[in-house]
Amino acid sequence: MLKIAVCVSGGGTNLQALIDGVNKGLIANTRIVRVISNNRNAYALERAAQAGIDALCVSPRDFDDREQFNKALVRAVDEAEPDLVVLAGFLVVIPPELIRKYENRIVNIHPSLIPSFCGTGYYGLKVHEAALARGVKVTGATVHFVDEGTDTGPIIMQKPVAVQAGDTPEILQRRVMEEAEWVILPQSINLIASGKVQVVDGHVEIDSRKG
Ligand code: GAR
Repeated sequence: MLKIAVCVSGGGTNLQALIDGVNKGLIANTRIVRVISNNRNAYALERAAQAGIDALCVSPRDFDDREQFNKALVRAVDEAEPDLVVLAGFLVVIPPELIRKYENRIVNIHPSLIPSFCGTGYYGLKVHEAALARGVKVTGATVHFVDEGTDTGPIIMQKPVAVQAGDTPEILQRRVMEEAEWVILPQSINLIASGKVQVVDGHVEIDSRKG
């Protein structure tokens, strides 16, 4: 059984895709053991409560400095004893200590085809604004392991999404979520839970023979 802790900041639609994926059996052999939000008002916390999942808020506002917040965040993850940590729209700089402790055991979903429109400053709607400003015809989403860089870790899955005439950042964001994020995040977790994902020399290898 793969125990996952999910970190969120906002609406939690990717968290919902994980909850639904587990309930429908699309994500095999997996249990969401805890949801952690940095934002007390995140609707994701409501989604966790509705699904009966242990959920808590660890907000930087409740701590004197970043170091104290980072410690509390690491503690909140450790307490849940997860096999895997999933950053599902978690818009916080991840403490290096957490990254070192959970090497190749933290997964992030990013709303573009990495290495386009990623790195510092590219998060949420800003990613789609930048894609439209550049005039790309194809964008998409990426699921990757987290290393100490920003959006630089080994790529697990990507899915392209067409940009359409008349797209606004909000319309494009919704299409990328529906067509890519809510599909490849559950698929990636299922692959990991099935023991099919390995990191070799900094790249992900997926074993399609197993299971
Ligand atoms: C998602 O689009 C996710 O890819 C993005 O934030 C949104 C969260 O939505 N994450 C990043 O930009 C990380 N750099 P959600 O709360 O509805 O899942």
